[in-house]
Amino acid sequence: MISKPILQDLPIDLDVQRLPRHIAVIMDGNGRWANQRGLPRIMGHRRGVDTLKSLLRCCKDWGIESLTAYAFSTENWGRPLEEVDFLMTLFERVLRRELDEMMTEGVQIRFVGDLKALPPSLQSEIQRAVDATQANKGIQFVVATNYGGRWEILQACRQIATQVQQGKLAVEEIDESLFASHLYTAGICDPDLLIRTSGEMRVSNFLLWQVAYAELYVTDTLWPDFDRAELHQALQNYQQRHRRFGRI
Ligand code: FPP
Repeated sequence: MISKPILQDLPIDLDVQRLPRHIAVIMDGNGRWANQRGLPRIMGHRRGVDTLKSLLRCCKDWGIESLTAYAFSTENWGRPLEEVDFLMTLFERVLRRELDEMMTEGVQIRFVGDLKALPPSLQSEIQRAVDATQANKGIQFVVATNYGGRWEILQACRQIATQVQQGKLAVEEIDESLFASHLYTAGICDPDLLIRTSGEMRVSNFLLWQVAYAELYVTDTLWPDFDRAELHQALQNYQQRHRRFGRI
């Protein structure tokens, strides 16, 4: 159970009653940000970590219950080896470096994705951070790593089919809530708002099941430049929408 946050510095024009409970972000544009400055792409990722940290703090201050970040997709293995290696090392280092602060701030970290394919040292660091923060009652921070939405749905189907085959489950018992309980995100509420930076109008295999009713917000801003003012704009935009969930 996540405790009710104490709001800090929420912009006055935002309605506290209509904030999204859960924001998901596709952090795109790190490479372009670096290229524009004549820097190697990895510098964009490094800067991207700072941006993510600031966003997490801001979400916490403004009373958002969960933030999910798309850190590494199943397709990202196709990047040059040096970049993949850099990202794996970066994730590990950041986790180690930020654990104390996450404890102080009451952040509960969770990972979604096929973690078994990650380097063993990263898997241990992930396990350490997840275990240490498990009982924290502040913002829930979900990191999608080696995550693919289609694969997540497929493996849920396989698990359910196996249960049916073994006679442990009747076909009629399969409903949305049972299906969702077989996804990596079991127990996490669906995102209300999906933000994508760098102007691409795609969901890129991210949380395919979970974003069914999410409001989408795309900004041309590259991820390393996504700051509090940008989040404020995204929330203003979100609060102007009428969420109908298929009704009229
Ligand atoms: C997309 O930009 C970014 C990524 C694939 C990596 C994002 C990862 C981080 C910001 C680090 C997060 C760290 C932790 C510990 C969760 P891109 O490389 O696709 O940029 P481009 O589209 O401009 O090439």
